[in-house]
Amino acid sequence: MLNESPLFQPLRVGRYELAHRVVMPPLTRMRAGVGNVPSEFAAAYYGQRATPGGLVIAEATQAGDGGQGNPRTPGIHSAEQVEGWRAVTDAVHAQGGVIFLQLWHTGRASHSSFRPDGGLPVAPSAIAIDGVAITADGQCVPYETPRALEINEIAGIVGEFGAAARNALAAGFDGVEVHGANGYLIEQFLRSSSNHRDDLYGGTVANRARLLLEITRAVVDVCGPDRVGVRLSPHGSFNDVSDNDPQRLYGYVFDQVAEIGVAYLSLIQARTDVGMDIETPQVDADLRARWPGALIVAGGFSADTAERAVASGAADAVAFGRHFIANPDLVERLRTGADLTPYDRSTFYGGGAQGYVDYPALEASA
Ligand SMILES: Cc1cc2nc3c(=O)[nH]c(=O)nc-3n(C[C@H](O)[C@H](O)[C@H](O)COP(=O)(O)O)c2cc1C
Repeated sequence: MLNESPLFQPLRVGRYELAHRVVMPPLTRMRAGVGNVPSEFAAAYYGQRATPGGLVIAEATQAGDGGQGNPRTPGIHSAEQVEGWRAVTDAVHAQGGVIFLQLWHTGRASHSSFRPDGGLPVAPSAIAIDGVAITADGQCVPYETPRALEINEIAGIVGEFGAAARNALAAGFDGVEVHGANGYLIEQFLRSSSNHRDDLYGGTVANRARLLLEITRAVVDVCGPDRVGVRLSPHGSFNDVSDNDPQRLYGYVFDQVAEIGVAYLSLIQARTDVGMDIETPQVDADLRARWPGALIVAGGFSADTAERAVASGAADAVAFGRHFIANPDLVERLRTGADLTPYDRSTFYGGGAQGYVDYPALEASA
């Protein structure tokens, strides 16, 4: 009976045959150590959440040293970071899990205190986020107006993603995910509100999508398309982004990503309340038809709404963010219909073991 749940049917994602469709999405926890090496607790944290044939996507990780925008987020551009990640991938593989690494550059969602040269954050255009930045020492200050990237700097950023993908494979990851969501650098290029460029990277939809597609091709060149995912947030406004025609923009992006043929596309839905009719999400129903590959969705799902999303064909797999933080054995709980432990938002970002590796598994909490 339980095994009939659509969430517990196998799914092919690129090179991998997943045993179920409950995905752990990237979750920034801001606990990295000196040199932005993954936390000493990271291997335990990810290992607790790994399952045989289950897909874990590790938190947003700087592809290069200019991409950081929050304190204590990990990187994958130094030998020490690669070594630190190796412990994480080993822990997930020991459980029979599959682990990808999300690669990001925060762009203007940053502060000069993070920049190696102390200069302004970089972005497609010199347009500040209307909001509050965090400095390297944890102060809250208004966002600075970023510096618009020179066109001849862009190849360097694309190259950093390629190098980061190589490092990710060296660290034992099974693949990488391009962070094209949540108003970070790639989405700043995608969206008309944050991209006012008049060169090859701005203006038309094709020009605004160019950075995403160049980065995707760069990591595909390293990993092969069957080990690359792309994450997008077509409904999102996080980090002060919007678009004058999101349907056209994302229609184009879906078509192009489909042509590259990556392993999966991961979409963040508008954050919904449980009970909303997720079988007719605003933009995705249209876009779904343009994407032939595996589609992962996230955003306010419960066991019930996730089952319905997969059963209806609206998605192939569902990622649970906040529930995975508080339930290391979330997969087992969903399989058995057990209650979920509520999450403690105050320990989402920063700190050490508390709220990270001390949420109880079922036996201990029963
Ligand atoms: C603490 C926290 C950190 C997050 N960090 C990331 C991240 O690094 N990269 C990303 O793409 N999304 C990130 N997200 C979004 C989640 O991956 C997920 O899409 C979101 O939480 C919605 O799922 P949920 O409603 O099940 O929590 C984060 C969310 C939370 C709550």
